[in-house]
Amino acid sequence: MTEEADVVIIGAGAAGLFCGLHTARRGRSVVVLDHAKKPGEKIRISGGGRCNFTNLHTAPENFLSANKRFAVSALKRYTQFDFIEMVDAAGIAWHEKTLGQLFCDGSAREIVDMLVNGLAEAGGQLRLSETIERVERKDQRFQVTTQNGQIACEKLVIATGGKSIPKMGATGFGYQIAEQFDVPVTQVRAGLVPLTFTDQDLDMFRQMAGLSVDARVSGGETSFREGLLFTHRGLSGPSILQISSYWAEGEAICVDLLPQTDLAKDLKTRKRAHGRVGVATALAEHLPKKLATALVGAETRNLADLKDSEIDRLSAALHNWSLKPAGTEGYRTAEVTLGGVSTEALDSRTMEVRNQPGLHFIGEVVDVTGWLGGYNFQWAWSSGWAAAQAL
Ligand code: FDA
Repeated sequence: MTEEADVVIIGAGAAGLFCGLHTARRGRSVVVLDHAKKPGEKIRISGGGRCNFTNLHTAPENFLSANKRFAVSALKRYTQFDFIEMVDAAGIAWHEKTLGQLFCDGSAREIVDMLVNGLAEAGGQLRLSETIERVERKDQRFQVTTQNGQIACEKLVIATGGKSIPKMGATGFGYQIAEQFDVPVTQVRAGLVPLTFTDQDLDMFRQMAGLSVDARVSGGETSFREGLLFTHRGLSGPSILQISSYWAEGEAICVDLLPQTDLAKDLKTRKRAHGRVGVATALAEHLPKKLATALVGAETRNLADLKDSEIDRLSAALHNWSLKPAGTEGYRTAEVTLGGVSTEALDSRTMEVRNQPGLHFIGEVVDVTGWLGGYNFQWAWSSGWAAAQAL
């Protein structure tokens, strides 16, 4: 026998749970399906277990998409301050860590519980461990077949996220459904992801694994100043994750290892005052010694023995360290998937596919990707809320 519901949402992650809760609050019968055993697993592990649930400074400029204007409507109609109000009403304590990033004081589970309990209290149903076998359109309705039976619904929402972290249940399911219904999908790739060194750079920097510095990392017109971490395979840390979303294979990135210092000026002053100090030792005042030594290579002279033009060159090398990453660590460790269901096919107010009435895509599966810092969850909340108003 086929069960009936007003709305079926596939994916019980951030966007799906949030959309389900708001849809149920509007009095619609909602079933949220997920193949995972637990809901909101990415929320649970996010922000080091504390969930960076939004960012105070959220604005459309913090998102990448083929259509930079697409996110404007949803972000404006359901803002970071609306979500903060909900978190406050649930009694969840939070703090700003840095750069407007808001985290739970306690645990990310509080956010998952708020969404799951909110969905249940509003009368929505959550069904886990559901294998979606088929999605079909029958007359004006959708029919979703799982291993447990069939559900017919008037509206279908795809909230299955991107491909990042397949170990946690991420699949390309949303893109397959898009293809089935002739909805275009832009090219997808890993974003907010560590970059890997070429073999040559790896030989040079292998010893640096674990070191972190403050850096400004640039790629083209875009730059981010945050922490940079040397890893066993390449570079990570917030500044690298941010720039990875703008990086394309074969391109170089430029790293300013001393964004807070005018190195040439400092070294020239020291050369005149106390020139009998080794270059690596002088640099070690600004950078971890191991890194300073690796960067100056065979340079064993004292500062006093360097011409000012040599100091300028050395300084430029550290302020503009240009390197070509070999690649990224891929979906295995990426926080997000760039690209996705083309915004051209969607109504930005409702997330509905223009030529497939009743079919909506929300959250990360859509070609809207936020910076690191709570922006991706805010997109999940805003796009989920926008869809819920139309379901
Ligand atoms: P999400 O991935 O959350 O949910 C999709 C759901 O669909 C999952 O429950 C999955 O099981 C289900 N699903 C997939 N395929 C299915 C299928 N075939 N059948 C049924 N169900 C299926 N962002 C941020 O703003 N702040 C942060 O602190 C972090 N931290 C962070 C850490 C880590 C390690 C990662 C990997 C990511 C983050 N993010 C983040 C990004 C953030 O987690 C992400 O953008 C959102 O979870 C996206 O929400 P969605 O609901 O769209 O997808």
